[in-house]
Amino acid sequence: MSDEHKKHSVKSSPPPVHGLLAEYDTPPQILHAAKQIRAAGITKWDTYTPFAVHGIDDAMGIKMTILPWFTLGAGLTGLASAILLQWWTNAHDYAWIISGKPFWSIPANVPIMFELTVLLSAITTLVGMLILNNLPEPSHPLDQVRRFARVTDDKFFLLIRASDPKFDDVETRALLATTHPVAVEAVLEDRVTPERMPTGLVYGLIIFAVASVVPFALAAKARYTKSSSPRIHLIQDMDSQPKYKAQRENSFFADGRAARPAIEGTVAAGDARDDDHFYQGKDGPGWARTFPSEVALNEATMDRGRQRFGIYCTPCHGQIGQGDGMVSRRAESLQQGTWVAPTNMTLEYVRQQPVGQLFGTISNGIRSMPAYAPQIKTEDRWAIVMYVRALQRSRSGSVGDLPPDARASLK
Ligand code: HEC
Repeated sequence: MSDEHKKHSVKSSPPPVHGLLAEYDTPPQILHAAKQIRAAGITKWDTYTPFAVHGIDDAMGIKMTILPWFTLGAGLTGLASAILLQWWTNAHDYAWIISGKPFWSIPANVPIMFELTVLLSAITTLVGMLILNNLPEPSHPLDQVRRFARVTDDKFFLLIRASDPKFDDVETRALLATTHPVAVEAVLEDRVTPERMPTGLVYGLIIFAVASVVPFALAAKARYTKSSSPRIHLIQDMDSQPKYKAQRENSFFADGRAARPAIEGTVAAGDARDDDHFYQGKDGPGWARTFPSEVALNEATMDRGRQRFGIYCTPCHGQIGQGDGMVSRRAESLQQGTWVAPTNMTLEYVRQQPVGQLFGTISNGIRSMPAYAPQIKTEDRWAIVMYVRALQRSRSGSVGDLPPDARASLK
């Protein structure tokens, strides 16, 4: 027989039998049938049901799969690599102090340990399930059997494959008959759907797999090569804009600067500070001896001053301004010898200072004391000066300063 002829005869003869398919109506029936088939010593067979039938594994003698062990192994591998990776990078190879915390501590590393454990177990479970089940299976002879379609609805099926050593068309049919099926049908090998995946799809997948490496290859190349042309910048977003940034060069102007210097005397809107008394504490060339007219000399300003003094000054100067605040006491207890004690502002020389000078000290700082203008509003700085004056007075007043009735209560 020529090869041509062989091919032809194979095509015209009916395809070989794949197996015998029995149909049942209820779960108890298929359970019962499964027990019988198993007892008969058949090995290459399977059952198909529209939903999970309890007890079918036992009836068929299906053993536990090895998959959980793969999952356990993968999970432990993930856990171990997370611990090793973090220990190696953070505690060993490149130890880095972060907020004085220990280089190695379990709690800080739990998130990555958890992530890698879950990641590796999940991927292994999925891939292992596919491999152990021989999936994906593009076609199956049962796809061609019309009655089998109801397996997703309300029918239960049992298939004995022709590859079983005990398979015999007549005997196996008789065996199936003893299980009281609704129907028994021979399933033929599938000649309709190609066994192999379409070549186009295979090539497509290969091209896709190869192409997906390209970006990584480009990134790796960029790390190790030098180039004088700018890198490809696909997504520009707002990175390149047709405008000049402040510190850039601009050939349009004679001085070549993009930023134009402000015209002399320019003041930003609302920024005019031409009241020297109020803003500088100055009266002509010297310190002002009086409060500016913007400051209301009343109880409310005094309260505000006490409150602000409590917030901004007591940490160093103490509650009554004698230079014994908590910060200062703590610094002195360290005995490092570098601490400059805050001034006792009730001392005679500070008492003699004009209010404008106190305002200046708060605003601009003095020697070791930092400036407070950036933190405290102008009005509030004046209110603090008023309160400081009251503190000084409380240390140096005489009985004569008291109102007459208060004087009487002293005696
Ligand atoms: C961070 C600590 C600190 C804070 C807060 C602080 N001061 Fe001082 N202050 C100092 C120190 C230190 C000196 C002495 C500086 C020196 O002699 O080098 C000083 C000096 C002074 C003097 C004396 C200036 C002079 O002419 O000798 C005055 C007045 C004063 N502070 C007022 C204030 C007021 C009012 C506040 C609150 C707004 C304040 N300080 C907040 C640390 C502080």
